[in-house]
Amino acid sequence: MRKTEHIGVIGAGSMGAGIAQVAATAGCKVTLFDQQKSAAISALDKLSSILDRLVKKERISNDKRNDILSLITVVDDLNQFHSADLVIEAIVEDIDIKKKLFFNLESIVAEDCVLATNTSSLSVTDLASSCEKSSRFIGIHFFNPAPLMPLVEVIPALQTDSSLVENTLDLLNSWEKIPVVAKDTPGFIVNRIARPFYGEALRIYEEGLADFKSIDEAIKTIGGFKMGPFELMDFIGNDVNYAVTASVFKAFYYDPRYKPSFTQKQHAEAGWLGRKTGRGYYNYESDLDLKSSISNDQSVEIFERVLVMLINEAVDALFLKIASEKDIELAMMKGVNYPKGLISWGREKGFDWCEQKLDELYNIYHEDRYRCSPLIRKWAAEIKS
Ligand code: NAI
Repeated sequence: MRKTEHIGVIGAGSMGAGIAQVAATAGCKVTLFDQQKSAAISALDKLSSILDRLVKKERISNDKRNDILSLITVVDDLNQFHSADLVIEAIVEDIDIKKKLFFNLESIVAEDCVLATNTSSLSVTDLASSCEKSSRFIGIHFFNPAPLMPLVEVIPALQTDSSLVENTLDLLNSWEKIPVVAKDTPGFIVNRIARPFYGEALRIYEEGLADFKSIDEAIKTIGGFKMGPFELMDFIGNDVNYAVTASVFKAFYYDPRYKPSFTQKQHAEAGWLGRKTGRGYYNYESDLDLKSSISNDQSVEIFERVLVMLINEAVDALFLKIASEKDIELAMMKGVNYPKGLISWGREKGFDWCEQKLDELYNIYHEDRYRCSPLIRKWAAEIKS
């Protein structure tokens, strides 16, 4: 297989620009293309000021700054990708537009050039099918901001050559990233397992058990999470987070476990998108000194309900072979900064405790949302025997 020295990046939005920075920092030659050349040029300008700041803070030398910038070339024509060893696409999240791009790209790049998508929500297998040589296609899913977030999910399509997975892991390790391998299923690892962090918190709010601030405080103080679910949704943007939830729900053939929330939908509809609009679940002008309004016992109950739903999702992902246990644990700690791996958290609490908690919820609601993973039941039975 050819060496990976020349990276093509298509799309110079937040992700493409970040990926270009990561690759150039690792010493690769980068060719950057965006259908709007101004986007690529402004990405390069932004990168230049980011690097200036890093030089000021003495995180990198001035020579390193110059090297990184000299390795990135903005082009206005895809034909410039003919000598690329790997092309990573980070354009608009639209299956038809992405497929058309890969179809066109295949007539430009070399036979053994690897083609990769940074999609968050589309089927990698479906995208691979747009290529004649689909065995060279793979998902390489960075997290935002790519230069700062260590996790990268590597997603082989059904058609991907197995040696490509190993080579991609080696490449990402050499870029000082933490790569994990995920099966090509909706949300891959992180966006699947994290759903209850938002969904259960919203449900608890909708049932009137606590307000946003009390739920956030419970998750942070009892659970040790850096941000509560409502703060995090406000940070991500309710439009973006709602769209991911809706797309995962649909892709799972409407499994009730992933059902979106009306509260979030309405926040998005109202334009209360979060920090970027000054108002989301919180009003960032007036709500800054809100306090939790519930007792410690209530906080523990709320935290445990969210936690057990997360553990259930993580164990079920392992049960369904979405990823290895090690990768599931790493993904949640390095992709979304969870304080512990969820499976070890389940082990710490006891899987018999998890089974009982989930069954209690199921017995109250009789909703499939609260069904306990067969693997939790198996592990609980082992504890009990
Ligand atoms: P963005 O909207 O910031 O940037 C997309 C860029 O692609 C724009 O500059 C646009 O001009 C360009 N573009 C659109 N169609 C194109 C085409 N046909 N050819 C060339 N350039 C084209 O989007 P963002 O957030 O950077 O996302 C890009 C991809 O990365 C999407 O697939 C998204 O799902 C995925 N992703 C996004 C994350 C995020 O947090 N924003 C995280 C991980 C993945």
